[in-house]
Amino acid sequence: MPECQVRLLSKEDVDALLTEEDVISTVEAVFRGCAAGRVTQTHPEMLFADEGRENMFMPMPALLQERGVAGLKWVNMFGRQQPGYPAMFGHLIVLNSPENGGPYAIVEGTAITNRRTAGGHAVAAAKVLARPDARVMAVVGCGSQGRQGLNAFLPRYPLEEVRLYDRFPAAAEALAAGASARCPGVRFTVCEAPRAAVAGADIVLTATTSKETLVEGGWLAPGSFTAALFHFNDLDWRYARACDKWVLGLREADYGSILHNKDVLAKGADLKPGEEYGDLSDVLTGRLPGRTRADERILYTHMGMGALDVALADVVFRRAVETDRGQLFRFA
Ligand SMILES: NC(=O)c1ccc[n+]([C@@H]2O[C@H](COP(=O)([O-])OP(=O)(O)OC[C@H]3O[C@@H](n4cnc5c(N)ncnc54)[C@H](O)[C@@H]3O)[C@@H](O)[C@H]2O)c1
Repeated sequence: MPECQVRLLSKEDVDALLTEEDVISTVEAVFRGCAAGRVTQTHPEMLFADEGRENMFMPMPALLQERGVAGLKWVNMFGRQQPGYPAMFGHLIVLNSPENGGPYAIVEGTAITNRRTAGGHAVAAAKVLARPDARVMAVVGCGSQGRQGLNAFLPRYPLEEVRLYDRFPAAAEALAAGASARCPGVRFTVCEAPRAAVAGADIVLTATTSKETLVEGGWLAPGSFTAALFHFNDLDWRYARACDKWVLGLREADYGSILHNKDVLAKGADLKPGEEYGDLSDVLTGRLPGRTRADERILYTHMGMGALDVALADVVFRRAVETDRGQLFRFA
């Protein structure tokens, strides 16, 4: 009987082994793989843990033929969490070989979730949908994703001003203080209301956990690129129709997570499949052009998919083998 050996990789391993460039290039490759039919994934069912349906688990499996990896991201998201615990408390990613079926790694998933989202697929989308000369960025929601996104966008655009808004001004101030120490040439402004942050901004990142609409489409300027990481929870859903191009991440994933989202439907949203301009895989494979005019208002909404997490966990695993990081666990 062959030995089954699993490498255990922590957040520290993920942070040490995964570069920003790895994240972007891997995310882009996953979207292209999806377009080529080389990625199999089922789109997540939510397993609710409470009667109010606020606390849930979500299995996110994917098989990536080109990378030769199958895996599962096992996520929890507790809207009504116990005091002192974060809403997302310890995501895991398990990797298996599609050749012999056996598991070979368990990778801490929260760091990968953070890296592949605002600093990952949102950046990949911005590369083809935002104006390269963007000068003003707005971050609405200054938690983990706001921080990750700001850090990833700052070095990529000639930003002169960053406006930050959070319901807790201290969160926006802390984010501004950290970033301004690294980027003294950029002006950081903490705003008292979301409108002041987004009006006239070239790049807008909405990354709150609010189910109340905070940003109206009419406030978003011609030429802007908006990455709405919590889709139409905190951004008015009507902007999907009012903007010039509404781009999903991947149709099969986002129809379920965005169009059928019960909180968005409860606001009266009646968006239908086909109303989108296209998805990021269309643009990255050249099936559809990305931005074609400087004054287009472009909206990007994507709620993630297991294939992104599995691919990035596999990058971390390969680097860990090369550098002998992590702990080995034998099943027998
Ligand atoms: N699209 C994706 O692939 C993807 C992946 C992971 C997370 N997300 C989503 O991104 C969002 C942010 O995640 P996070 O990990 O950064 O969460 P977080 O809890 O670290 O940060 C959320 C921030 O939003 C702020 N906020 C909440 N309600 C607000 C309100 N009414 N007004 C202003 N600010 C408010 C909070 O104060 C906090 O600073 C979540 O909604 C999460 O579901 C999306």
